[in-house]
Amino acid sequence: MTALVVVGTQWGDEGKGKIVDLLTEQADAVVRYQGGNNAGHTVMFGDETHILHLIPSGILRDTMSILGNGVVIDLPELLKEIEELRENGVEVQGKLHVSARSHLVMPWHRLIDQLREKDKGEKKIGTTGRGIGPAYEDKVGRRGIRMGDLRHPETLLARLQEIIAEKNALLTHLYEASDQCFDPVSIQQEYLGYFERIQPFVTETPVLVHSLVEQGRRLLFEGAQGTFLDIDHGTYPFVTSSNTVSGNACAGGGIGPRHISDVVGIVKAYTTRVGSGPFPTELLDQTGEFLRSEGQEFGATTGRPRRCGWFDAVLVRYAVRLNGITSLALTKLDVLDKFETLKLCVGYRMKDGSIQTDFPFEGHDEVEPVYEELPGWNTKTAGITEYDQLPKNLLDYLARIEELVEAPASIISTGPKREDTIVLQPDRFWKS
Ligand code: GDP
Ligand code: IMO
Ligand code: MG
Repeated sequence: MTALVVVGTQWGDEGKGKIVDLLTEQADAVVRYQGGNNAGHTVMFGDETHILHLIPSGILRDTMSILGNGVVIDLPELLKEIEELRENGVEVQGKLHVSARSHLVMPWHRLIDQLREKDKGEKKIGTTGRGIGPAYEDKVGRRGIRMGDLRHPETLLARLQEIIAEKNALLTHLYEASDQCFDPVSIQQEYLGYFERIQPFVTETPVLVHSLVEQGRRLLFEGAQGTFLDIDHGTYPFVTSSNTVSGNACAGGGIGPRHISDVVGIVKAYTTRVGSGPFPTELLDQTGEFLRSEGQEFGATTGRPRRCGWFDAVLVRYAVRLNGITSLALTKLDVLDKFETLKLCVGYRMKDGSIQTDFPFEGHDEVEPVYEELPGWNTKTAGITEYDQLPKNLLDYLARIEELVEAPASIISTGPKREDTIVLQPDRFWKS
């Protein structure tokens, strides 16, 4: 068995970047398999802070980094990210590989995403405005442009003419934005220019993945977003446009399920969400505000304040099942250092009075969380690296979460930096 998948168990921003970077120390390659530059993964070590949007967090460790076929790529943004890494002393040449089958996020995708959101007003999804939804729509609608298509300028132009005719009609007649229409020839030229720069990185990544599997190498699949932003399993329509669950590591990364041995679920010690949509344990009071300021809960991609609330075991237990999670990485426990008491949501009281412990299909806005209260530890744990130094009340909180969500913890994170971590079983990964 050679593959470990890292997934977010809530609504994203659980600390996946930090944990992927940590586990990359033992990995031979890191693969992104879905999403695009809607993601923002923060990695901190020493005095350095990096926020990665597209490139796998493994790049910071000199490890092979692969953008799989399931990712949607905004090419100028990818080139910008490569440049930024270079400016920060991280060279990607020879380490980064980009799938020829990955779909491109084109300028009309970004524009339509933003125009649609504006039109929706109060009912907006609260997308990142990066064109992710429209790009996946075109992929599934068989109107997409793949990275490898940029190798063939003439057929590319013919496809652009067809696609842009439709987009321009939409912009003119539906969005009254005729001044923002696109020209196929200038787009062709612009993208051929980008392609010249990205070409050395483009390859058939599934073939690369298969050869790594054959060599018995350790692969790490880096999920983006979180389980409840999944297009099938999330709080639809307030979701992203890809499958974020671990199963998609197979389709989006080009690997068969039998090679996956571990699925590490990243769990924030409380709950956050950016954008609109249901959030049963949301705190709209001073406690929520306190969590936001203590946890620095502002989006890594858009800078928007994140909505904050108590830990929701209904969500995470469901995520453990959906993703086949083998162990948990608990992050941001230190953010709870100043609480006298803590609440854990153990079930939802539905409108008809019944208690639900599986994530329900509907009525999220009306459910009333059923809370259990635990004593806080009310002492500083930020930066602790020894398990024995953790206060008893923190260990009790952790143990109750493990019990409720039915999965054991393998990693405890006590701060944003790589160093602020306790790995409970250092040799447990890639073993089974
Ligand atoms: P991702 O999208 O899942 O990779 O998460 P983000 O990077 O968007 O958001 C997580 C934030 O929490 C980042 O700013 C991290 O540096 C920070 N972080 C991660 N783990 C911890 C932790 O254990 N404690 C604290 N205080 N911050 C953490
Ligand atoms: P990481 O990987 C948190 C949210 C947006 C919005 C919804 C749809 O950093 O955890 P989209 O632009 O994808 O069409 O927006 O999904 N969203 C995220 N929220 N973390 C993310 O990524 C997110 N990526 C998208 O806020 O609610
Ligand atoms: Mg993030």
